This record gives sequence, C-alpha cells and structure tokens, in this order.
Amino acid sequence: MVPKRYVLFGTLAALLAVLHACTMDRATSKGAINLGPTPLKLSYPAWAADSAHKPDIPYDNPTTVEGVALGRRLFYEKALSHDGSMSCASCHIQAHAFSDPRRFSSDVHDGGAPRTSMALMNLAWSHFFFWDARAHSLELQAFEPVTAHQEMFNAWPEAIQRLKERPGYEAQFQAAFGTMLFDSLHVVYALAQFERTLISFDSPFDRFHYGCDSTALTPTEQRGMALYFGKAHCADCHELPVFQDHAVINIGLDSIPTDKGMGARTGKAWHVGRFKTPTVRNCEVSAPYMHDGRFATLEEVVDFYMDDVHLNTPNFDDHMFAWKLGVVELDQAERADLVAFLKALTDTTFLNDPSLSDPNAVGHH
Ligand code: HEC
Ligand code: HEC
Repeated sequence: MVPKRYVLFGTLAALLAVLHACTMDRATSKGAINLGPTPLKLSYPAWAADSAHKPDIPYDNPTTVEGVALGRRLFYEKALSHDGSMSCASCHIQAHAFSDPRRFSSDVHDGGAPRTSMALMNLAWSHFFFWDARAHSLELQAFEPVTAHQEMFNAWPEAIQRLKERPGYEAQFQAAFGTMLFDSLHVVYALAQFERTLISFDSPFDRFHYGCDSTALTPTEQRGMALYFGKAHCADCHELPVFQDHAVINIGLDSIPTDKGMGARTGKAWHVGRFKTPTVRNCEVSAPYMHDGRFATLEEVVDFYMDDVHLNTPNFDDHMFAWKLGVVELDQAERADLVAFLKALTDTTFLNDPSLSDPNAVGHH
C-alpha cells in the first residue's frame, strides 16, 4: 500500500501541475489578447495645434501602426473599384498633394454637377469633408467614393469579398482590428487612419515663420507674404496654421451659382453657392482650382480675387468684407509676389514622403 503522505504529496503535485498549466494557458491567451495594435502618435510640430486648430482623433478609431499600414494598402487598392481599374490614389496623387491634375476625375457624372478632386492633407484638423461639407468624419467620408457612380462604383459586399481573396488582408485586419471577419466599417476606419497621417507643415514659409530661418523665403516671397496676411486679405479665411478656417463660404465665383454647393445638399436658400474653404498649402501642385476646377493657374486665381469677385451673388460671405468695402486691389507686380508666396507653401518632404506612397510599388523596387 502506498503511504498516505505519498498520496497526499502526489495529489498536491498533480494539483500544482494543473494550476501551473492553467496559469500558463491564461498567460498565453491573455498575451494574445493584449498584443493589440500598436498606438501611433501623429507627428506634427507643436505650433500646428492651438485651441481653434488641432487634430481630432475619434475615440473609437485610434491611430495605430497596423491600422495605418492597412489603410495605406487600401488607399492604393484597385480591388475596391468595380472594374479593378481605380484606387483612391487614382484621383488623389501624392505628387499633386493627393489631388488630381485632371479637372474632372471621371467622365460619368450621374446628373450631379461635376466637381474637381480635393487635395488631401492635415485632414485630422478638418471638421468636415467634401466641397459641400457633407461628411462629418473621415470615416463617414470614405464610405462614399467606393460606391459613388462617378468614382469607384462598387458594392461593398463585392469589395470585401475581393479583399478576402487577396493574400495578406485577413492577417492585416486581424493585426489592426483583432478580427479576420472584416467589413466595410473596418475598411473605412483603416483608410481614415492612413489619411490622418497625410500631414504637411514643412514648407519654406513654415521654416521662415515658425522655424525663424530668415533665409527660407526670397525677398519676392516675403513681399507676397506681407500681401497675403495684409491688404490681399487671403488670411481672413485661409488662416494659420492649416490655411483654412473650417468654414463653408460663397466667395462670389458667379452671380448665379451653377453648382449650388451646400445648398444643393440641404435645399436651404442661404446655403446656395457655399463651399468648404480648401487649404492653400501645396496649392502650387494641386491645380486645377475651385470646386469645379475652373482655374488652371494660381495667376488666374489671384486675378479672380482682384478683378472678378461677384458681390451680387446670393449669400456673399461676411468674411469677404474687404471686397464689400472695395479695398482689395493689387497691381501686376504685387500679384506676381502673391503667387510667389503661394508657391512657398509647397512641402516637398510631404510630396515625396516614401511612407505615404504606394506600398506595393515600394515592394517591387
Ligand atoms: C474618381 C476620382 C476619385 C476617387 C477614385 C476617389 N476620390 Fe476622393 N474625391 C474626389 C472628388 C471629385 C472629391 C470632391 C467631391 C465632392 O466634394 O463632391 C473628393 C473628395 C475627397 C475627400 C474630401 C477632402 C476634404 O478636404 O474635404 C477625401 C478625404 C477623399 N476624397 C478621400 C478619398 C478616398 C479615401 C478614396 C478611396 C476610397 C477616394 N477619395 C477616391 C475624387 C475621387
Ligand atoms: C472669405 C473667405 C476667403 C478669402 C478672403 C479668400 N479665400 Fe480663397 N477660397 C475660399 C473658398 C471658400 C474657396 C473655395 C471656393 C469654391 O470652390 O467655390 C477658396 C479657394 C481658393 C483657392 C483654390 C484652392 C483649391 O484647392 O482649389 C485658392 C488658391 C485660393 N482660394 C487662394 C486665395 C487667395 C490668394 C486669397 C487672397 C487674395 C483668398 N483665397 C481669399 C475662401 C476664401
């Protein structure tokens, strides 16, 4: 017979072994759960955030390394479009500050007034999206292009199915969101995370103004800067540090707006002709200009502001008070200086940043 204390010892040992196994088990599974995506802090200079202008990250879609990597791949993913020919980057090209040099990115117009593609940068700072301000978050914004007729014209179930068939996506969604059963919501969340990393605050103007580098701007550009912030009144709306003011404004492009802008969406008379103030950062490369791409050059834009503003347009904005007063006038030399300053807002680091380019193209090189 086995002595009693050996039985006791044996039972204890067995119990300990089981307990140990349990804790091991818990530790590994707990580890797996905790190995969530790696938080990523957006990188931007301290001066780029103040009380009126700061990045806004939704609490339910924090920026992570894995989410941004996935969003970047999706941004360049042609499988998102109906015929596999188009990605977001087809109309949002990095060398053009993520806008499109074509006036209208697509020939199909669905009956609506055609609009030109928008440059994408510092989007975490924006309060609303699209020319008529119809989307209130980047997440909501991204739902639209995939299904819009003028754009990628795809059905979400089909798009999701195509992604599932491509190698690597399931693992990437797992890493970014902890699920391989991803849907359209995960796609737009990842896209929004990547879009928030499109940050541009490193132009010659920034080095001059914020970096105190007095050699960063030429005398011509400095004269243009004085006009921009002074008697040309551009900074009344395109204001520091993002060069936009989170407003939806009728600047008087036409007496009778052909595209009613925000008014076409809301049906309200007092919204007719109002469009989102776009940033003018990197505007040197983001032609053509305005919601309908009517101006091909910055010279034409400046000539418009000096000669052709329609004061009789409905809802002519109060921010255009200097035009109402009739005090905005620049001679030809001043106009050239102002254009030179606008071109000093070009951030070549941003336009060439390899971390924002097509990840597949990088792999092939
Ligand atoms: C066929 C061209 C085309 C494609 C493809 C396209 N876009 Fe756009 N994008 C546009 C146009 C045109 C606008 C302006 C539309 C409007 O205001 O009605 C726009 C506007 C935007 C804006 C608003 C920017 C702002 O400052 O308000 C964002 C963000 C954006 N697109 C992201 C995307 C993403 C993400 C994708 C891919 C899922 C995408 N786009 C695909 C043409 C395109
Ligand atoms: C009252 C506000 C306001 C003022 C002042 C103003 N802008 Fe604008 N700007 C806007 C709005 C709004 C748009 C878009 C209008 C549209 O497309 O219908 C715009 C568009 C632009 C664009 C086109 C950007 C693009 O991506 O298409 C440029 C460039 C520009 N403005 C430069 C200037 C300059 C230079 C001045 C000074 C001479 C100036 N703005 C004064 C509000 C303003």
